[in-house]
This record gives sequence, structure tokens and C-alpha cells, in this order.
Amino acid sequence: VSRIALTGIKPTGTPHLGNYLGAIEPGLALAERSDVQAYYFIADYHALTTIRDREELVRLTREVAATWLAFGLDPDRVVFYRQSDVPELFELSWVLACMCPKGFMNKAHAYKACVQENEAAGVDPDAGVNMGLYTYPILMAADIVGVDADLVPVGQDQVQHVEIARDIVLRTNHAWGEGTLKLPEAMIRGEAAVVPGLDGRKMSKSYGNTIPCFEPTKRLRKTVMRITTDSLPPEAPKDPETSLVYRIHSAMLSRPQAEELAARYREGIAWGEAKQLLFEAIEERVAEPRARYEELMAHPERIDAALAAGAERARERARAVLGRVRETLGIAYSR
Ligand code: TRP
Repeated sequence: VSRIALTGIKPTGTPHLGNYLGAIEPGLALAERSDVQAYYFIADYHALTTIRDREELVRLTREVAATWLAFGLDPDRVVFYRQSDVPELFELSWVLACMCPKGFMNKAHAYKACVQENEAAGVDPDAGVNMGLYTYPILMAADIVGVDADLVPVGQDQVQHVEIARDIVLRTNHAWGEGTLKLPEAMIRGEAAVVPGLDGRKMSKSYGNTIPCFEPTKRLRKTVMRITTDSLPPEAPKDPETSLVYRIHSAMLSRPQAEELAARYREGIAWGEAKQLLFEAIEERVAEPRARYEELMAHPERIDAALAAGAERARERARAVLGRVRETLGIAYSR
């Protein structure tokens, strides 16, 4: 194994098709590579910047973990764990905070977006901003450097956070020497994987426009039928590029398959039929994983056990990294 790939999944919503196509499927493919050791974790402490309900956090943590397991994550191969089970990360987070200019946090997207919304609403710029949200990228940097990660597969929205982590590493190594921390690199997921939601905006829990991965078959069909379409008559030719049904469907297909589907749209396909085809394609893809998912959710102790085993392995590595850092900095020194 030559490289460590690490990514975190924030348990803030029931996993949907956009998560599957954009993150889970490519994440599982990466984990299969023989030159990669994957560390994938549930970022439950990051979710604490917004979630205020115990049952919700527990449920979402298990839903997200069960989804990855159901789609085929092999917990013997991937180090799969809960962030909160690795306390070393939080100690490291303080070290990184001391190396992070405050200005970096002022410029971080998630925080800046809140400030801009507040300003537009004419309220205090920091209204509703807690320090967890403000320093979110520092904990994320700790997640990354805490296992000496080389590669960080992320979507476009997280690239800035990885850049901040890199910056903190460079400053740390400048002060204490090369090799104090490992310099990570973002691995940006392709634009093709951005899946639109039922209404055409990016598929996202916050817009309420998602197709959840594991709805029961009947409900899944109803959800697909809700996708926005225009009012062209059934036999009229349809432009695939402007059709939401097509854009969602083609995200699941290879190039040639997508071309074939596009041809059917251009010949004229009724929206009802186009949606039925999409529904069938999704159903085929999720049927077996859904059975595994339901089995896991019925036995949450199995999910918890898989995560606990992963945490042991992640901790072992994080302990080594933290030990090295503390020695280097002269904190709790042993010699
Ligand atoms: N911030 C990421 C997101 O919202 C989740 C995350 C937490 C993460 N820690 C990470 C991603 C470390 C990559 C590496 O999607």
C-alpha cells in the first residue's frame, strides 16, 4: 500500500442518490485499488455544529454507516469509523488551531455564507454562528493529518477546506521541520457526478428535492414521478440536455448507454415512460443493497460493531501521529 485516502461523511441527512453517485460509488471504487488504503469515517462531531437532537444524530450516524456497508464497503479492507471514537483528533485539533491564522477561518466558505446571509437579512453578521462552525476546517484538518493521509477525495465544495489543511501543514512544518505533518492533497470528484434533484437544483437535503437511496419500492416510484418536467405532448421529441429526468438517469449510465437513452428522448418519449425507465434503473441498482440496509438497520449493533472495530485501527494510527507531533513540539515530552 502506498497511499492513504481519507474522507469524512457528515451525518446530517438520509443518504440519497446524489450521495451515492457523487461520493459512495467513487469512494468504494477508490477503496478497491491495491495501491490505496482507505480511511472513511462518519464526521459526527462535525454534525454537532447543527444537530441538537440525540435520537436524530444516532439515527443519521447509523443510516450513513449502513448505507456505505450496504453498497459494499468492506470493513475489513476499509478503516471505517466514527470520528468521535478517535479522541486523538481533538487534541491534534488544538495544535492545528494554534497554527491557523484567524483570517483563514474568516474566509472559509461555510462561515462566509452565514455572514453574507446575515448581512442580507440586516442582522448581526455572526448571528447563529457557533465556534464549531467557525473552526470547522481546523477539525477537518485534524481528521486528515491525524492519520497522515495523502489523498482526500472530496466534492468541489470541500476543496477550500483541504487547501486550508495544506496551508496549516506547511506552516507547522516550517516551524518544526519537514515531516512533522504529512502534506495532503485533494482528489476532486468529477463535475459529472453532480446530480440534480427533483426540482433541478443540486440534489440536497436542504432543498428537500432528494431521491433517498433506500425508500421502499412503491415510494421510490412515487418520488421519481415527482421529477419536474415540461408539458410537451407524449410523442414530441425531447431535448435530453434540458430534461431533468434524463440528467438524473444519465448520471447512472456509461457514455454509450447515455447516448442510447438520449436518442430515445430525441425520437419522442412520453415523460411517464421516461420516468418509468429511470425508476427501473434505480430500483435495479438499489434492490440488493436495500435488503442489506434494512437488515443492518434492524440490527444496529452490527453497524456499531463494525465502526468500533474501525475505530481501534484508526486510533492506533492517530496515536502514533499525535505521539510524533507532541515529541516534536515539546508537549508532554518523554526525552
Ligand atoms: N466537511 C466534509 C463535508 O461536509 C466532511 C468532512 C469532515 C471531511 N472531515 C473531513 C471530508 C475530512 C474530507 C476530509 O462533506
